[in-house]
Amino acid sequence: MPDNRTAHLYIDTRRSISPVSPLIFSGFAEHMGRCIYGGIYDPGSPHADENGLRRDVLAALRELNFRSIRYPGGNFLSGYDWEDGVGPRDKRPARRDLAWQTHESNHFGSDEFINFCREIKSEPMLAVNMGTGSIQDAANLVEYCNAPPGTKYPDLRVANGNRQPHGVGYWCLGNEMDGHWQIGHLEAHEYGRKALEAAKMMRWHDPDIQLVLCGSSTWEMPGFPEWDRIALEHCYELVDYHSMHKYADNRDNDTDSFLATTVALEEFVETLEGVLRYVKAKTRSKREVYLSWDEWNISGDYGEVKGDWKEAPRLIEEVYTLEDALVAAQWLNLFLRRADVVKIACLAQIVNVIAPILTETDALLKQSIFYPFLLFSRLARGNSLDLLLQSPRHETKRYGDVPLLDVSATHDPETRLGALFLVNRSQSEEALLGFHWQNVRPLNTRAWQLAGTDPMAVNSFEQPNRVVARPLAVQSIETGSQLLLPPLSFTAFEMILR
Ligand code: AHR
Repeated sequence: MPDNRTAHLYIDTRRSISPVSPLIFSGFAEHMGRCIYGGIYDPGSPHADENGLRRDVLAALRELNFRSIRYPGGNFLSGYDWEDGVGPRDKRPARRDLAWQTHESNHFGSDEFINFCREIKSEPMLAVNMGTGSIQDAANLVEYCNAPPGTKYPDLRVANGNRQPHGVGYWCLGNEMDGHWQIGHLEAHEYGRKALEAAKMMRWHDPDIQLVLCGSSTWEMPGFPEWDRIALEHCYELVDYHSMHKYADNRDNDTDSFLATTVALEEFVETLEGVLRYVKAKTRSKREVYLSWDEWNISGDYGEVKGDWKEAPRLIEEVYTLEDALVAAQWLNLFLRRADVVKIACLAQIVNVIAPILTETDALLKQSIFYPFLLFSRLARGNSLDLLLQSPRHETKRYGDVPLLDVSATHDPETRLGALFLVNRSQSEEALLGFHWQNVRPLNTRAWQLAGTDPMAVNSFEQPNRVVARPLAVQSIETGSQLLLPPLSFTAFEMILR
């Protein structure tokens, strides 16, 4: 009988939840603050290439291995005219962006974004404006990007230097349209109707595109989950994914509860999974619609975020702590545990604005959350596994009694590579973990660990290596062996399973 302060993990590669969709390792880039200008695109930096893209940023993003990037917003999207952002730079109009009250030069637009995605080997995921934009504008953008030359918009693309269609596969129908803060905010019925009509036209231009419907902005919205049900009832037959957003925080300075945030995140998925099933049954549909968690991250309380009509002002440049990295790691665990229904997830955002990377004109910093994303994105592959975990538990104010450990694992039957991800969310208690491999043996195990004693520890330009994942020498994780997981730690393993 296991004693109740030792954890036990039972792993059987026959218990597969679902193949892992690589798109859960995606990102989000918005025309906001210094994400695009001064981040990705910074022609004045000594690191800029001939297109104005930062070489050091491209290298860090390549390391993170983002499978797709969602663009151009965010709240910015709902006032954006995509035609302002294509063609010769000196002819593009500058605009006042009402979402963040900043000056938008339009020097970076859809073509530059797609080129940037190709540079980092990521799929572009474009969003169409459902606020001030019309269904015609949305269809025109699909035509511009994906249709062969011979008509107005594809010919414009060719004139702008892109003979071959861009072949953009993923398209989001607006952003947070349930929010009163959204430019052109719509009620659920209005949005459902508009999204449906836009989706029809977009699909007529290109029947192969995949569409993401806008869900509630967070579960705290008064309309949640009715908004989702209504929008889905209009669009279920035409969309492939339904979006969810959430920014977690530790505003009440309660680290134990913050480190158990996945309890609420898990419930969010379960509720929307229920809505999807309900709508599928109600509409007598044969198709499956999945979840796209296309904005997720940790963010403090910034009050009203406004840019005083400046160009690329510093907006919500969150400095990430050790505890933030541990929450991010658990969020990624959750994506794997719910790989059956979460098929897209975008870390919001990717540079400077609530991001794993911060830049100055001549320098780049990798923040604490960089490391869990890197390890998951590089190691998780194949099928997600249904693990059996017996874990000691502890009490939290917000979520009651929760397990100390949070875990996930994957196994790729083709390469036989396995990966295991473990978070000890206790601030004070080590966890002794016993491994029980039920049908395979782990060989050639490699491990990395991110840990510390101060949950508020951060990296800075002066001290860039305070919170990083370091290689960990592990004797054995075979059946019968035990491993001590320090408090406030994230450990990732890669091994061959035979
Ligand atoms: O990522 C910052 C903002 O958060 C996005 O513009 C919006 O969609 C969300 O509320």
